[in-house]
Amino acid sequence: MTDPSTEQLRPVAIGSDLERRDGFPKVTGTARYAYESEAASPAYCRLVQSTVARGRVDSVDTAAAEALDGVLLVRTAFDAESLETDDGELAVLQSREVAFRGQVVGMVVADTAEAALRGADLVEVAYSPAPHDVVLRTGRGDLYAPEKVNPSFETDTSDGDIDEAVATATAVLDRTYTTAMYHNNPLEPHATTAYWDGEALTVWDSTQGVHPTRAVLADLFGLDRERVRVVCPYVGGGFGSKGEPHVHVVLAAMAARAVPGRHVRLAFTRQQMFALAGYRTPTIQRMRLAADQSGRLAGIAIDVVEQTAKVKEFAEQTGVPTRMMYAAPHRSTTHRLAALDVPAPSWMRAPGECPGMFGPEVAMDELAEELGIDPVELRVRNEPEVDPESGLPWSSRNLVACLREGADRFGWADRDPRPGLREEDGWLVGTGVASSVYPVNRMADSTATIRREQGRYVVEIGAADLGTGTWTTLAQIAADALEVDVAEVTMRIGDTAYPIASVAGGSSGMTTWGSAVVNAARAFREKFGPEPPEDAEAQGSTEDNPATERFAMYAFGAQFAQARVNRDTGEVRVPRLLGVFAAGRIINPRTARSQLIGGMTMGLSMALHEQSVLDPRFGHVVNHDLAEYHIATCADVAEIEARWLEEHDPHVNPMGSKGIGEIGIVGTAAAVANAVHHATGVRVRNLPITLDKLL
Ligand code: MOS
Repeated sequence: MTDPSTEQLRPVAIGSDLERRDGFPKVTGTARYAYESEAASPAYCRLVQSTVARGRVDSVDTAAAEALDGVLLVRTAFDAESLETDDGELAVLQSREVAFRGQVVGMVVADTAEAALRGADLVEVAYSPAPHDVVLRTGRGDLYAPEKVNPSFETDTSDGDIDEAVATATAVLDRTYTTAMYHNNPLEPHATTAYWDGEALTVWDSTQGVHPTRAVLADLFGLDRERVRVVCPYVGGGFGSKGEPHVHVVLAAMAARAVPGRHVRLAFTRQQMFALAGYRTPTIQRMRLAADQSGRLAGIAIDVVEQTAKVKEFAEQTGVPTRMMYAAPHRSTTHRLAALDVPAPSWMRAPGECPGMFGPEVAMDELAEELGIDPVELRVRNEPEVDPESGLPWSSRNLVACLREGADRFGWADRDPRPGLREEDGWLVGTGVASSVYPVNRMADSTATIRREQGRYVVEIGAADLGTGTWTTLAQIAADALEVDVAEVTMRIGDTAYPIASVAGGSSGMTTWGSAVVNAARAFREKFGPEPPEDAEAQGSTEDNPATERFAMYAFGAQFAQARVNRDTGEVRVPRLLGVFAAGRIINPRTARSQLIGGMTMGLSMALHEQSVLDPRFGHVVNHDLAEYHIATCADVAEIEARWLEEHDPHVNPMGSKGIGEIGIVGTAAAVANAVHHATGVRVRNLPITLDKLL
């Protein structure tokens, strides 16, 4: 059965390896980013941040800053304009209470960035500090169950009787795993240029969603949406940290309103990104597996403890993938939060699935070892016929094919399962595997317009390209839906001047915006036929897909890693990573490969390097720069290969695509941890896998 909303396109442009349309302007430097937008008379904003983690601002002395040459404005909680919001993160300068270290307590606007920086240094702030609490651990008396976990999943689930399953199983595993705190570090920091023309606000903001940002700004400043324009043709990376506006957008708009006629530019410094742009919560995951001798799971359970902020609740959905991944009649998942005196956590590539597949996928490796079953085979034996959570059939599920294909390509058949046996030139060598999963998400509220303009087909939609390829891939979708050559299609995205579009998040862009473009193209063809007149125009919107009620929709993957561990120093290298994915139809192999190997690289980085270190005495991240917050570099990444199966899924959307921005990072860290165990015999359950844990 096919629904009209998923009637399949004939792929002609879809599937071709087109160059990025934004590639040339980016590499030649003509692409203008938010901080570089045109401005006749720019002014610059710099921030004053709290030096205490909790307390109250008693007084500020702004005289020296205000007297400084070039300073136009100093604002603090004592004189900032009032905003309408109940969002504790965005309510900046609305109160004298300090809720975390690094919170913005003032801003300075000046003619030059240097004067603004000097001015911010000259603002004197006196605090009444209060005791703070920033350490996540299990067993805290104040852990609580949130009402829902992101975006709206049940907090706890239970099927069957997990305790009974654990009590009666042949093989039982009960282990606790942890993932670290991580910060998104896109190359382009969070940046905004803001300008008021009377009561109309324009912001050039580096964002994953111009329309959602507009909605937030309009509410905050009490404006009709039509009075706010958000422009963002190019984004230098976001990974979720630009999925919702943070305080920079609000501050830039407040500042610009106070210095009429000026375009105010505000960019977070790299260090400010570690306090003000969100982060991935650390997680503590207790895993329980109960299996029979053949490795068939009777029970699987995860109990997650993680943090949120006192200013705003953010409940990462870490336990969610355990609900659907493997067949087990007895299943239980829980989430508990500690609300700390820290900045609010936020979105980071594959929220939920990324941390939430670390514990389960290492646990599966431990179970395989205990039972003497090959870890690929163990996963195959626990393949569910239908979604264990919903009972729905899969729209398509090719995890087994990914595991088999990956095993073949990786040379898995020759693997001796015994750990700690292989040594080459002083390096212990091992291999590991883990599964990947990511849901097929569809957002609401996206509309595309297609118009015939100067002999071309012009597609307008306020979508985002954060490096993912949207400029190019939406043109491919439009071309196939219009049945024209892709060279005849002009794309216009990244501006609220174009029709409403959802955030680039949850790997939902192609499904959501692509469906809107297809509907617009079908309306256009129906109205005007194959030879449309100049100025012909049609619109189409994303519709609900009724098939989501009948099928469970996910992309799957299998990741294989080789690890080498220096037997004297414990240093870990990963010379080889292979990912095989089943993610529906691939719109553009070039941009898809870039997404998948980008995700895998970020997963490798999570496995070995990344960790935000919070100082409990002061409450801030001490390694808040790229010198000390280690991210995998080119030298850390050797052979990394992403492949995909030809998968046809007629239920997901008209393209048959599943979304690939996030699945690449899911499972990578577990595959590396499993490879390190195979190399050394040491089981590291706490990320990152640093050398001290291996000696
Ligand atoms: Mo992604 S973390 O949903 O931008």
